[in-house]
Amino acid sequence: MVKLAALVVAVALLALLDPAATVVEFAKEDLESDDSLWKLYELWGARHKVARHPGEKLRRFAIFKEQARRVYDLHIEFAGDTPLGLNSFADLSDDEVRRDYRCAKGGAGNGRKKRSFINVKRRTGDGTLPLPVAFDWRSKTCYGHPCLTPVKDQAYNCGACWAFAATAAMESHHAILKNGSLLRLSEQELVDCDTNNGACAGGLAANAFQYVVKWGLTSSAAYPYTARNGTCKSSATFPVLGMTGFARVPAYDEFELLQAVTYGPVVVSIDANNTEFDRYAGGLYPSVKCGRTPDHEMLLVGYGSNHYILRNSYGENWGDKGYMLLPRNFDLHDVFGPCGILLDGATYPEMA
Ligand SMILES: *[C@@H]1O[C@H](CO)[C@@H](O)[C@H](O)[C@H]1NC(C)=O
Ligand SMILES: *[C@@H]1O[C@H](CO)[C@@H](O)[C@H](O)[C@H]1NC(C)=O
Ligand SMILES: *[C@@H]1O[C@H](CO)[C@@H](O)[C@H](O)[C@H]1NC(C)=O
Repeated sequence: MVKLAALVVAVALLALLDPAATVVEFAKEDLESDDSLWKLYELWGARHKVARHPGEKLRRFAIFKEQARRVYDLHIEFAGDTPLGLNSFADLSDDEVRRDYRCAKGGAGNGRKKRSFINVKRRTGDGTLPLPVAFDWRSKTCYGHPCLTPVKDQAYNCGACWAFAATAAMESHHAILKNGSLLRLSEQELVDCDTNNGACAGGLAANAFQYVVKWGLTSSAAYPYTARNGTCKSSATFPVLGMTGFARVPAYDEFELLQAVTYGPVVVSIDANNTEFDRYAGGLYPSVKCGRTPDHEMLLVGYGSNHYILRNSYGENWGDKGYMLLPRNFDLHDVFGPCGILLDGATYPEMA
């Protein structure tokens, strides 16, 4: 017991000292008693900088215990692929996470074709198609600078994934094409001013691109994010980014999708309406559990021989430092792709 306590302290210290570790790892032993779980809860709170009001903490702890056990069960079910880790949502209930982070509205049916016979082109890894086997914008540099801005957090109370996916795409396309300079673009301008989208109630990056082609977009410094619906402010009339247009990648075409990502990150949508997504803490995502109705937009930033690399907007304390590794599926009959990623096609900005 003493040994275990020492170990827990050592692990806790390590966790606090390691700025790169963004999820809180734990072991089966941590689930053994209320005592050990409480220690884990405190460690989690310290790491994710979550301080609960004393009156609320016990209620939150009950949720935390349940979620930690579910994460453990998932780890057993997908042994090896799903690490034992707690992301920043560990003391939120499923309803809270889903209601507040819900996002891509109008995704269903958008660009979607109903066809009985569909040609699904897939990269099968046989080397006959002219694409790199793996590609990752996270490890590339654009004129000596990173090609991606740091992962952002759309925040608990605003379903603006569409705005974050759009700005992230525009920021990196700008970095790739314009000398590596990384702009920080305003999500809030899109939330407040883009009337074709639903503000914090959801929207689509493609509509946001349309807005930017017409009006330009200002910086997040000039027009900061508040995670709330607001009225359009005059700072929106000072754009820092001009865009010439945007392109669509057709649905059901993995090859085109992967090809597009070698030019620059691409906005995709997946079905994220499930516990595994909410609790995801890195590793290969257990996609066999997800549905096929895309409701959440993210940025595809690369792929490996067996997975897609997706950037989310839930901050760096979710998933793999804010990113997700979604297993690819080479079943040609699965036209929708894992979690429906091929169902709505994809979109990316075009700059002069
Ligand atoms: C990129 O930067 C270099 C110097 O760093 C400059 O010579 C060149 O004109 C720039 N190109 C563009 C398109 O801004
Ligand atoms: C935010 O605005 C959208 C679109 O106008 C609306 O559907 C939603 O209910 C608003 N949310 C809040 C919290 O006011
Ligand atoms: C999300 O999934 C739940 C079941 O887990 C279902 O009841 C609900 O309708 C789904 N919501 C959407 C928007 O698909």
